[in-house]
Amino acid sequence: MTKHENKLHPATIGIHGGPEYRTPGAPVVPPITQSATFHWATPADGELLYSRYGNNPNQLHVGAKAAALEGTEAAVALGSGMAAAAMTMLALTEAGDHVVAASGLYGATQVLLAQELPRRGVDTTFVDPDEGHWEDALRPETRVIYIEIPVNPTLRILDPRPIVAVARERGIHVVCDATFGSPVNFRAAAWGVDVVVQSATKYLGGHSDIIAGIVAGPSDVIDEVTRMARLYGPALDPNTAWLLDRGMRTLDVRVKRHNENAMAVARFFESRPDVERVMYPGLESHPDHALANELMDGFGGMVSIVLTGGGDAADDFIANLHLGIAAPSLGGVETLVSQPRFTSHAGLTPEERAAQGIPDGFVRLSVGIEAAEDLIADFAQALGG
Ligand SMILES: Cc1ncc(COP(=O)(O)O)c(C=O)c1O
Repeated sequence: MTKHENKLHPATIGIHGGPEYRTPGAPVVPPITQSATFHWATPADGELLYSRYGNNPNQLHVGAKAAALEGTEAAVALGSGMAAAAMTMLALTEAGDHVVAASGLYGATQVLLAQELPRRGVDTTFVDPDEGHWEDALRPETRVIYIEIPVNPTLRILDPRPIVAVARERGIHVVCDATFGSPVNFRAAAWGVDVVVQSATKYLGGHSDIIAGIVAGPSDVIDEVTRMARLYGPALDPNTAWLLDRGMRTLDVRVKRHNENAMAVARFFESRPDVERVMYPGLESHPDHALANELMDGFGGMVSIVLTGGGDAADDFIANLHLGIAAPSLGGVETLVSQPRFTSHAGLTPEERAAQGIPDGFVRLSVGIEAAEDLIADFAQALGG
């Protein structure tokens, strides 16, 4: 296995998908097919039928492009990242099954696995990735291991290879939410992961203006995910699919700039006495730096810091920013900052958060693609000069 299993480079795939036969007069940009339904009388009329079914041309186009980017057999584009996670779990489990998941997953995914699936007879055991006792948690009825790489918001990097090895032996699907890296930095399928979940709301869309999701994996799994999506109905609107495709065209250049800026910002924070800790996989001080180097083509645009002054210092820092915008979410061209104690980890006590490495004073930054020197100047003034 290597980091580069795709035939074309992600920069090329983001623009073209794959090589296509083009007829004279064809539009260079696929038109928006804003139609709920299609002229169709019998199965001989082809696959275009009804947009909730996921076979609108714009939906199919971004799905195919996502599969090429992830290096998987197939992919389906859905109405949100949570639709992608939920439809995946509905497709891969049924009552009586068991799931093993990494602790510290995205909050809504945790709720899905810890509260909603049990109501449907599917039990989940959470494993601390640092302790890594995956094998001990498995049961004969385990069907899925669900992981996230990198982990939000501590940006730890999990090695999928030992997990995949254990799962393969027992016919268990490994599902990885790889949103934070984007397929430019990290292609989970190249490391043996079966199913990749992306919140396309983030880097794939890239402009904080859409909600969308991708599931990429083997054709049999994607067919089943699509069957669930047809029933439960989280279809991607064609206009949003078109915007997602537009975002994917510039994914490679954007992500490279995110990577560069995040590195510069991380180094700046490392030099500040008012910053107790900087978490960025590109820093030598990061506990998983060597692993990130091996698995990833870039370290991403997310940087987390802990301010020495605790929660009050974090409130002041964010209130003083001129460029960085206080908002949840990530992966857009603009820099966003948030405090997990008010967003993803609001449901935990301060002690529980601290035990997960997220003390008060923890600030998560989605570093945008502005000029790095302007961002650093803004952060410096917001810290008091
Ligand atoms: C890692 C991760 N996965 C999934 C999601 C859910 O995506 P969406 O908001 O598109 O449903 C998010 C959203 O923040 C996320 O950060």
